[in-house]
Amino acid sequence: MWVIRGRVFFRGQLEPLSLGIDESGRIAAIKKVLRGDAETDHGDALILPGCVDLHVHMRDPGLTHKEDISCGTRSAAIGGVTTIADMPNTVPAVTTTTALNQKTDKLRGRAAVDYVLYAAPQSATAVPRLSDAVAFKVYMAESTGNLEVTVPRMEEIFRAAEKEGKLVAVHAEDPGKFMKQKARDPQGHAAARPKIAEQTAVATLMRIRGEARVHVAHVTCVEALDQVAATATCEVTPHHLFLDWSKPLGARGKTNPPLRSPADRDALWDAFRKGRIDAVASDHAPHTLDEKGEPFEEAPAGLPGVATAFPLLMRRIRTGDLDLPRLVSAMASRPAEILGIAKGTIEVGRDADLVVVDPRNIEAVTTKRVRYKCGWTPFEGMEACFPQAVYLRGEPIVEDGEAVAEGQGRLITPRRTGHHDA
Ligand code: DOR
Ligand code: ZN
Repeated sequence: MWVIRGRVFFRGQLEPLSLGIDESGRIAAIKKVLRGDAETDHGDALILPGCVDLHVHMRDPGLTHKEDISCGTRSAAIGGVTTIADMPNTVPAVTTTTALNQKTDKLRGRAAVDYVLYAAPQSATAVPRLSDAVAFKVYMAESTGNLEVTVPRMEEIFRAAEKEGKLVAVHAEDPGKFMKQKARDPQGHAAARPKIAEQTAVATLMRIRGEARVHVAHVTCVEALDQVAATATCEVTPHHLFLDWSKPLGARGKTNPPLRSPADRDALWDAFRKGRIDAVASDHAPHTLDEKGEPFEEAPAGLPGVATAFPLLMRRIRTGDLDLPRLVSAMASRPAEILGIAKGTIEVGRDADLVVVDPRNIEAVTTKRVRYKCGWTPFEGMEACFPQAVYLRGEPIVEDGEAVAEGQGRLITPRRTGHHDA
């Protein structure tokens, strides 16, 4: 057994503790004092559960000029993320078993962190065939990948997903509420895909979901949040919490759903602090600088963020804007629960996926620091607190803030404990 020591976030609070890690990378013991064959003492640095990012686009296979699994998961590790859930709008899109198997084969042995795959069934018949995916994604409106389905179709998909006990994450925007005008900047884009489109879509979703487990992706405003039923879950992105259309980002600030106004952003932050939003997910959606250099209307939507989600929020602990249990819940334990995977908590029997961070270690975000293949970050210059070390199943994947490992990430498959086992 080897031992890692520090101020551990255990049962909702920080305590100086020793974690004993066994051969299989699981936490075997949690004690005040433990002796091991090898010991690493992190002093008064915090040890938190590794973050679970339930919404990323690693672009692999098919769009690897923007991002790829090895590079993207190394950036994830730098940002304290030890499990990602990858969206299905890769090429070919994960709408069939063939595409799912092809993606599984393509990614094997290349990820630096553990990963979960989403599939995007386009009909009810595709649902049982895609049961090897941990969760489904449904798009109600067009965005990168053209995977949108109509509302009646979506209803059929929900009925089938309900039988499988499968989570359905939804991109909720109602295209019927989009405006026809051309946008020339993020503010124009927000006007073209207005808040009401999101609010209506979430309302529709809640009306037709039945008993399906529904998760609302990237809520951007309180009006949409107000529509999310207590029995559904939702996420917010760091860009909707930290950026708005007043920032001079041009097409780099183009994303779907759009960045909103400064006032909307304040209200969203307030709702998040108060615990009204389950999870923070990055919606890491990189595009190259060349692609983002096109005229606004033609430029692709989406921005990178997997490496900065946790560090930006961690910085807000010291400023008193956010408390630590809220952060750990939103970035680790809740997303793991939503996905139904055994991650996101420090306890005996769990994988030793750990983030070691010193809240005093403040630095400005730079393009170099996050090591994205796309070569830019919309959070450039903002204060952040990056982890000094990260462990995946007890193995260091980040040391002195830099990614040191690749390839040991594993695919997490659905737990076959649902009512479909018979
Ligand atoms: O802005 C977005 N970009 N929204 C999406 O829904 C997809 C994403 C992407 O894949 O680029
Ligand atoms: Zn997305």
